[in-house]
Amino acid sequence: MFSIDPTKPPQTDKDWQQRIYDALDAFSPGAPIDDLNLIAGRTRQIDSMVETVMQRGQHAILYGERGVGKSSLANTFATKLLGGVKTLNSVPINCHPSDDFTQVWRKVFRRLSSDGANLADKYQAEIHPDDVVVELGGFSLNTVPIIILDEFDKLRDHDARTLIANTIKNMSDRAVRATVIIVGVADSVSDLIEEHESVLRCLRQIPMQRMVPDELRQIINGRLPALGMKIHQDALAHIVALSRGLPHYTHLFGQQSAKKALEDRQLVVDVKHVEAAMPECINQTAQTVREQYHRATISQRQGNIYREVLLSAALAQVDDLGYFQPVALSKPLTALLKREAPVSLYAQHLKNLSEDDRGKILEQIGTDRRFRYRFAEPLMQPYILMHGLRNGLITREQVNTLAATHYEPRLSTEF
Ligand SMILES: Nc1ncnc2c1ncn2[C@@H]1O[C@H](COP(=O)(O)OP(=O)(O)OP(=O)(O)O)[C@@H](O)[C@H]1O
Ligand SMILES: [Mg+2]
Repeated sequence: MFSIDPTKPPQTDKDWQQRIYDALDAFSPGAPIDDLNLIAGRTRQIDSMVETVMQRGQHAILYGERGVGKSSLANTFATKLLGGVKTLNSVPINCHPSDDFTQVWRKVFRRLSSDGANLADKYQAEIHPDDVVVELGGFSLNTVPIIILDEFDKLRDHDARTLIANTIKNMSDRAVRATVIIVGVADSVSDLIEEHESVLRCLRQIPMQRMVPDELRQIINGRLPALGMKIHQDALAHIVALSRGLPHYTHLFGQQSAKKALEDRQLVVDVKHVEAAMPECINQTAQTVREQYHRATISQRQGNIYREVLLSAALAQVDDLGYFQPVALSKPLTALLKREAPVSLYAQHLKNLSEDDRGKILEQIGTDRRFRYRFAEPLMQPYILMHGLRNGLITREQVNTLAATHYEPRLSTEF
């Protein structure tokens, strides 16, 4: 990462300031990870991706909630293959809402060359599915191109999606050595492409869940030692409880807490540093998230419990797709309101929070009596907890004891 001697504590003001810059650099709340060594956990997904590349005719589709770490994995996993005789040629591109088939593949071709010439130069006009099959089939046996089509969910052009799926099928039939990996936000593969049996056979489905506490702890524990820093267990537990399985926040909390500790001239992060970091973490949360929360909680009526219902929802156990059952709110809400909180007390609130008037902060699925809900914006959950802490609606102890720490498996784990 950087060249400091972690065994030597900073001496001068300048040293401390430099250590703060190093801490800011060590964490990456705003960008995908670009180095496999910095990836916490995710071993099963990495193995699945590697196996996909190794099997000719196999391609993959990596999907999950927003912000769980899809791009980070897609960008870095290929390093695992290095060291073999083959040359890796990893080509990640981002799809854009207005892209059609030609535009997607032009981006790929611009990053590939054949016989010293840029592939895109060969295709001034349209690119057809067969051009892709021929070009990607033309690499030498020792080169393994890995084409990563990230943000696939953003493609609005339905035909482009279907054509890409069919092109992948053709590549598979022709035993082309290149591997295509589709990456996108989705609950299921069918949200990204039409599920034709023949296409699915050559596409390995790799769901990405939120990160489990152990993986989140690795994000912090894997970075602090290089800064010559440590963290108290309760501070780490608090960061994990607040993150709700979303690595972006673990980076943000880790980064800002380390900064607070260093400003205090300390090398051990304490829970008070995590608490002191909250205002800055709130500031760094997207304006859209803050506005949506505000809209959901304004009410003319005194004593309404929308804020407490949302806090309970932010603490509730969710499944792999982020959904919780109404009953999961009962325990935290009872603790927050200091009175019994059966589902009947807040069922209507959940419904209202899924409607236009309250900005649809929640999404509802299922039928009457079996509704499930989730936050439309996954990044909302930790924000609500930070906001609740700052405004005295909830205590740190309550967050730590009431936050569910595991997820009900729902997506297939057999991949
Ligand atoms: N395995 C990991 N270890 C450590 N940090 C991670 C890991 N995966 C993701 N992150 C961090 O989490 C944040 C989100 O990661 P990333 O951008 O890869 O997610 P994504 O699923 O592609 O998000 P989006 O759906 O918005 O495209 C980034 O700050 C990244 O640095
Ligand atoms: Mg991404």
